Amino acid sequence: MQYQIQKSCENIDWQAVCRLLQEAGLATYPIDLTRKAFDNSYCVVFVFDNNLLIGVGRAISDGAYQAAIYDIAVLPTYQGKKVGRLIVDEIHKALQKINIILYASPGKEPFYSKIGYCKMLTGMARFSNESAMREKGFID
Ligand SMILES: CC(C)(COP(=O)(O)OP(=O)(O)OC[C@H]1O[C@@H](n2cnc3c(N)ncnc32)[C@H](O)[C@@H]1OP(=O)(O)O)[C@@H](O)C(=O)NCCC(=O)NCCS
Repeated sequence: MQYQIQKSCENIDWQAVCRLLQEAGLATYPIDLTRKAFDNSYCVVFVFDNNLLIGVGRAISDGAYQAAIYDIAVLPTYQGKKVGRLIVDEIHKALQKINIILYASPGKEPFYSKIGYCKMLTGMARFSNESAMREKGFID
């Protein structure tokens, strides 16, 4: 596996990022908001197969003891080839000794279990679009 990893937002094609998130079935936002989200993140990971963007991921953090992971996505044709694990491993390197939380897309919990995440018993969320999140199966 000879993929290229980029850990900055330099020269990123944000249209390609939005397309990837959409093809992976994650929530998508306008290009400028997507760029803002990645620009303002504590760490970002972009994976390329030559010039093709095949995976993304990011985490927000206080840089001291708390962090949250978002937008882990792999192009469908590259899924199941350890690219997801590679992205999360790279994020972990930037977040050593820091607690990390996330909410998995419904059905993707086993992926996170495999890479060391435990189910939280007291997780709470206040979503800006609560009914949409309920419909998608994130909350009761
Ligand atoms: C979820 C996702 C990021 C996983 O990335 P991936 O590159 O396909 O996964 P990997 O090949 O790195 O898998 C790592 C391990 O998790 C397992 N795994 C991956 N997806 C799984 C799933 N849906 N259910 C069960 N196990 C899964 C793999 O079998 C592998 O196990 P192994 O190391 O024992 O062989 C990717 O499938 C994806 O982009 N999905 C759509 C978007 C999404 O739902 N993102 C998560 C948002 S929370």
